[in-house]
Amino acid sequence: MFFREDKVNGKFLKIAQEHEVVLEYLEKLKILLENNDLSYSFKQLKSMLPEFKSEMRHHFKIEEHFLFPAALLCVPSIELVDMIMVLQKEHGFVERDIDTLERMFEDNPKATQMNEAMTGLLKTMIRDIEKHARIEIDHLFPKMDACKKCRKIIKGILLEP
Ligand SMILES: [Fe+2]
Ligand SMILES: [Fe+2]
Repeated sequence: MFFREDKVNGKFLKIAQEHEVVLEYLEKLKILLENNDLSYSFKQLKSMLPEFKSEMRHHFKIEEHFLFPAALLCVPSIELVDMIMVLQKEHGFVERDIDTLERMFEDNPKATQMNEAMTGLLKTMIRDIEKHARIEIDHLFPKMDACKKCRKIIKGILLEP
């Protein structure tokens, strides 16, 4: 867990679990890529894409509105500013990739199978999200977790009515 208070505060637990939700989606997407039944993968991806998009948007919003500002306020450093600027940019890249996938479905209403462009983009997107999440989990959250002021601020924001 990223926050020590997670056991006494359900909302902290929720934030930490946000990544579990993202990682669960990535596992589902990887399973689709490994499936040789291309029409099954096509149908599954098409049906899960809207929910995946809204979950990712929600996740990015929590990070950009609560976590990143708290980190910049409490543990300011050039290194952290650079890290957060890159992370925010990467959120945009993921949203762009999801939009492109959606357009691939819209532009080919008669298609029934995954094609090379779809699987290629999906593979790249999964790899990029995993790399992105690792930076947050391994480098950003431990810094925040180690800072008492940072934990207090996040707790305060989350407990606002
Ligand atoms: Fe992120
Ligand atoms: Fe994240």
